[in-house]
Amino acid sequence: MRPLVLLSGAVALLAIAGGAYLLSGGDAGRTTTGSGTPMASVTVPELSGELARGRELFDASCASCHGANAAGRAGIAPPLVHMIYEPGHHADGAFFLAAARGVRQHHWSFGDMPAVPDVTPQEVAAITAYVRALQRASGIF
Ligand code: HEC
Repeated sequence: MRPLVLLSGAVALLAIAGGAYLLSGGDAGRTTTGSGTPMASVTVPELSGELARGRELFDASCASCHGANAAGRAGIAPPLVHMIYEPGHHADGAFFLAAARGVRQHHWSFGDMPAVPDVTPQEVAAITAYVRALQRASGIF
C-alpha cells in the first residue's frame, strides 16, 4: 500500500510543477529573462500634489509593465528609473510620444510598447513629473 501512496504523491507533485512551468510561460514571447521582479533599486521621495497624482496614474496605466516605482519588471519592461531615461537622453517629450504612439523595441529586448491611448497629455505630464522625481531621488539626473 505504502509505495503506491508515495508514488501517487510524486505524480501529484510532478503535475503541480508542470502546471507552474506552463503558467510561467505566459511572458515567454516578450523576452528571455526573468519573471516580473524589480530591475532597479529606487528611492521613493515624499510625494504630494501632482507627484502623488502622477503615481496613481502611473500605477493604473504603466506599472503593469514598468513595475511599481518604475523599477522595471524582469522579462516584461525596463525600469524608467535608469540612466538611459535621464532627462538628457530621453526628454519629457519621449513620455508623451511613448503614450500616444507606443515604442518600437530598440534599447532592450522586451518587445514593443503598445500605445496607451487612454491617458491624456495632462495625465502624462503628471506621470512624467512623478518619474523624474523618482529618478532624482535615486541619483539619476
Ligand atoms: C505593455 C507594456 C507597457 C506598458 C503598459 C507601458 N510601457 Fe513603456 N515601454 C515598454 C517597453 C517594453 C519599453 C522598452 C522599448 C525599448 O526601448 O526596447 C518601453 C519604453 C518606454 C519609454 C522609453 C521611450 C523611448 O523613447 O525609448 C517610456 C518613456 C515609457 N515606456 C513610458 C511609459 C508610460 C508613461 C507608460 C504608461 C502611460 C508606459 N510606458 C506603459 C512597455 C510598456
